[in-house]
Amino acid sequence: MNIERMVRPCIEKIPPYVPGKPIEEAEREMGLTGVIKMASNENPLGPSKEVRQALMQALDRVSYYPDADNYYLKKALAKEFEVDEDQLLIGSGLDDVNRILAETLLNPGDEVVIPQPTFSMYQSVTLLMGAKPVLVKGRDLGNDPAALAAAVTKKTKLIYICNPNNPTGTIVKKRELIDFLKDLPKNILVVIDEAYADFADDPDFPNGIELFKTGFEQIIVFRTFSKIHGMAGLRLGFAVAAPQLVRNMLKVKDPFNVNLLAQVAGLAALKSKKHVLLSKELVQTGRRLFYKELEELGIEYLPTQANFILIKWGRESNEICRFLLQNGIIVRPTHSFGLPDYFRVTFGTAEQNDRFFRVLREGIRKLKP
Ligand SMILES: Cc1ncc(COP(=O)(O)O)c(C=O)c1O
Repeated sequence: MNIERMVRPCIEKIPPYVPGKPIEEAEREMGLTGVIKMASNENPLGPSKEVRQALMQALDRVSYYPDADNYYLKKALAKEFEVDEDQLLIGSGLDDVNRILAETLLNPGDEVVIPQPTFSMYQSVTLLMGAKPVLVKGRDLGNDPAALAAAVTKKTKLIYICNPNNPTGTIVKKRELIDFLKDLPKNILVVIDEAYADFADDPDFPNGIELFKTGFEQIIVFRTFSKIHGMAGLRLGFAVAAPQLVRNMLKVKDPFNVNLLAQVAGLAALKSKKHVLLSKELVQTGRRLFYKELEELGIEYLPTQANFILIKWGRESNEICRFLLQNGIIVRPTHSFGLPDYFRVTFGTAEQNDRFFRVLREGIRKLKP
């Protein structure tokens, strides 16, 4: 039996996802303890106190299926973001939301415009559906609406904009985004992935949900609980979009896509205002520290609006990433983003940031010629 030949040909084209290394795996491989992860843009504070309490209280109920409609969470999200409940699609993380969107919209032959470099799952779900990714390199390593517009053809169905962008941390500014949307044919949907929007403090950063509410119906805005709320392991994300689109995406989603603990934790997270503030402050402090330290070291970086920073190592970065790992710090090499001379670091706690720079300095002494 040749199983390979049974697999849909489009699957072969999907590049494997390269995740950040889990702490347990790094500790096993390196024979270390106390490894820290600054690789996957998680929140080093973890979830809020309110979320932890809600989870403990909900444990007894995990023998029941979760609410397929996310009744309470949807109501709370609608209130928090001042949108209608029928404009909300909740998923098991944005990965789930993104796949549901692709399965709802894409036919073989449809074109999907994707800036480069950016989050790899846009390309993966496009290929999964047998659609064609149109990869567009723009200025500023990817944030270039004009280049995206130039790549549009009659076959274009979807365009992705990751704002702030992963892995660069750079943004498309409000005026640029509005002009881009105004000029775009109205039969194209634009995903604005705002996984990192909570960390942006540039006054020109456009809030996609607010834009949607001003009448830009051709956008679908992605938000996640993985980053600002420190809940990456629970898997919870959502989209704000036109009700006609949401209604169809609901038919595609798995009935119980959002697990019971994620729903309960999501509700508690929306009430955890102090934790959100602390998480933002931690990132802003981390940003200032990284800028200062990297400048002192003469290392180039991209100014960032996210909870991570893209560092230009100047030559192949495997060696320095390996050195950091051997010293108990997991960072993210960016080869899979097509940036072999860079690496990405998630801001940590003050202690973790200090440890990072101690090891980086040692690495520079040992590895830089
Ligand atoms: C830009 C972007 N979108 C979506 C995701 C996936 O988010 P979630 O954890 O909600 O699936 C990530 C995860 O790192 C991301 O960087």
